[in-house]
Amino acid sequence: MTSPLNDGDIDAGKINRKIFSDPEIFQDEMERVFARSWLFLAHESQIPETGDFFTTYMGSDPVIVIRQADGSVEVLLNSCNHRGMKVCRADSGNAKSFTCTYHGWVYGDDGKLLGVPFENECYGDSMPKDRLGLGAVTRVENYKGFIFGCWDEAASPFLDYLGDMTYYFDILADRVAGGTEVVGGVFKWTMRGNWKLAAEQFAGDMYHGQTSHVSAMIADVQAYGDNTPPDEGTAALLSMEGFQISPGGGHGVGAFERPPGVQAGRMSDSDSVAAYMNNTESEMEQRLGAHRAHDAFWVHNNIFPNFSWLNSNGTVRVWHPKDAETIEVWMWCLVDSDAPADVKRDKRLDMQRHFGPSGTWEQDDGENWNYCAGAGGAIQRRRSLEYSAGIGMSREHPEFPGEIGGVYSEINQRNFYRRWNEFMSADSWDEISVPVRTVPPRIEESHRAREGAGS
Ligand code: FES
Ligand SMILES: [Fe+2]
Repeated sequence: MTSPLNDGDIDAGKINRKIFSDPEIFQDEMERVFARSWLFLAHESQIPETGDFFTTYMGSDPVIVIRQADGSVEVLLNSCNHRGMKVCRADSGNAKSFTCTYHGWVYGDDGKLLGVPFENECYGDSMPKDRLGLGAVTRVENYKGFIFGCWDEAASPFLDYLGDMTYYFDILADRVAGGTEVVGGVFKWTMRGNWKLAAEQFAGDMYHGQTSHVSAMIADVQAYGDNTPPDEGTAALLSMEGFQISPGGGHGVGAFERPPGVQAGRMSDSDSVAAYMNNTESEMEQRLGAHRAHDAFWVHNNIFPNFSWLNSNGTVRVWHPKDAETIEVWMWCLVDSDAPADVKRDKRLDMQRHFGPSGTWEQDDGENWNYCAGAGGAIQRRRSLEYSAGIGMSREHPEFPGEIGGVYSEINQRNFYRRWNEFMSADSWDEISVPVRTVPPRIEESHRAREGAGS
């Protein structure tokens, strides 16, 4: 298959605009990217008990993530084999079975077809019920509480898919011994724009902050600043040095440098959160080493293709692709499980205030993606988009694995699109590379026990 991009154009920092608006490319993405990639589905704290379920999407396919009696997690296609009706229409809950509300077929919590109304009258005694269960995702992994699934049997193992991204994912997932949990529900909203614009921004775009978010930054410093006069505080935010990091696999990470003597909690608006970050820094150092604990303010991240988070305030999100120019954003607030109640509350409020659907920063981003959409006009399509920032300016870091660019480099976006291109061009996983790993993943016995119970 010929992908709409070629690697030479990406190397030169050129991206064809039609990948953000063409319905045929969108359909290919569902098959070639979303049906083959490891996708984030849910956090284990959302389904702690037997029968607890959470419904979500893998690309365009609806799925049910459900806890089994033995503690494992099944992921079932949420689509009846009779006419395709969703067998579960709730967002979450607890169930022993799912009854399709169209003609009443009943499926067990493991997806098996258990009952069919008027079975004998309809099918005699020949109904092959054992072949009519809900499809189940056979590749499911629980990485430190984060449940991922992949439809493709031939996909590389999950840890290989992540490669050196585990080094950076652990800053969210494994900072303290108690692990993480979701607080509150899931924020969901629909926006105009292509899902890749959001994913590439969380992979690699610190650049837009200085223009798109500057008024929100000024308001933050004035409202919640750390006793520095507003002008001085804003100037400090605008002049920070930092990195864009490509750990391979199309994943991306961005961070500001943390100068010696500046406290870990400096980036928080809340005194309780700032104190908590300062108090848990030594535990983080013990677990993840001095460099991850002290050398950076970790900011934005994306695991290819569509799972993103911000370390600063616990917003964790999936960019669900709905059509070529529509995204459904699902956002969770993630906190350390053992954090005090006031820290959990303040993180949630901070996240809502900035990154909820009406959050001061979220509105800035959504407005941009909305007006980036519709770029598939006849004349616009003749003009490629410019992704060349930082070409030839990569550097090594003595500690952080991956290719490193400056804070405003578009290195992560280029690597995101190289990976996207690889998936779109490949006919099978045999033609998709596995990222080179340079740092072994950090897996404790307690993680193994949890993973055993989660997959
Ligand atoms: S569509 Fe489900 S029973 Fe008919
Ligand atoms: Fe933003």
